[in-house]
Amino acid sequence: MHVLSGIQPTGRFHWGNYFGAIRQYIRLQDEAEDAFYFIANLHALTTVRNPAELRQLTYDAAVDLLALGLNPDKATLFIQSDVPEVSELCWLLMTGTPMGLLERCHAYKDKKARGLAADAGLFAYPVLQAADILAYDADTVPVGEDQVQHIEVCRDLAASFNHHFGPTFVLPKAKLLDTSARVPGTDGEKMSKSYNNTLEVFEDPKVLRKKIMRIVTDSRPVEEPKEPETDHLFQLYSLFADDAQREAMAAKYRRGGFGYAEVKKELADMAEQYFAEARRRRKEIEGRPEYVRQVLGDGAAKARRKAKEVLRRAQQACGVKL
Ligand code: TYM
Repeated sequence: MHVLSGIQPTGRFHWGNYFGAIRQYIRLQDEAEDAFYFIANLHALTTVRNPAELRQLTYDAAVDLLALGLNPDKATLFIQSDVPEVSELCWLLMTGTPMGLLERCHAYKDKKARGLAADAGLFAYPVLQAADILAYDADTVPVGEDQVQHIEVCRDLAASFNHHFGPTFVLPKAKLLDTSARVPGTDGEKMSKSYNNTLEVFEDPKVLRKKIMRIVTDSRPVEEPKEPETDHLFQLYSLFADDAQREAMAAKYRRGGFGYAEVKKELADMAEQYFAEARRRRKEIEGRPEYVRQVLGDGAAKARRKAKEVLRRAQQACGVKL
């Protein structure tokens, strides 16, 4: 198994990022033949337009990933823009990308539907993402549900390049977790920075507790039985609960006679406990910027070696290399 995934430094990581994607990165680093994980700063540039902020968020993302258990001895961690070969590969793919395919992609489509001006970077975003994946011969891409469309685009582009120029690229598959491919936010919609409904992994515990207490719930009376399956507070609770705890909470929902505030308090306690060790590690790593830079430098060198090899293969296939 050859694993690759990327994550944008557009804000601090939230539970959706962790339970949908990062937790898979950590698990797969033990199973994979190779695992490449990168911080997608070129993608983030389509939204973060303040250089100091982008630099800080990129650094924070590296520290967060290391604190959450990404192990540089097992996985290659790097910054997307440190591998310029990918941008070149992106151009090779772009020349064969139908406009209609990109017009159907949701990030661009949603922005247009809201009447906002989109730039070429946002439009071409999925092609850069395809290059990210293909540059490492990855066959497995751990992501949340919202990225499935992009992985499909990547497969389409790779297959059409292979068809036209001969076998060049490996066709990748998205890898999702059934229990947390779409983590809901505090309002029940998908948790997302752009919906302002996030709960951050490394948020100050007091602030986080307040946010949890404000999770939107319905106003049915305490005694009324409730359905756990469709309740986003229950889904959030389930992220941290073991089977027995989940069963007990589901039974409580069905019985009725409890208040949502009780569940929220329990959720806040569990979340604090769950990330306590990562929080401690984060403090320690934060104070060692030279270590973080070393990890990212080594990662970039290793990633470039691989991307160079794949780029050369693609250049030869399409005739831009004599
Ligand atoms: P990004 O930065 O938006 O999200 C990073 C990862 O977190 C997952 N995720 C979620 N999973 C479950 N529930 C949620 N509410 C939730 N919100 C986010 C995302 O699915 C993703 O796996 N385009 C990508 C970054 C990227 C990339 C790549 C990914 C660039 N190149 C190559 C894979 C392969 C993105 O914007 O993810």
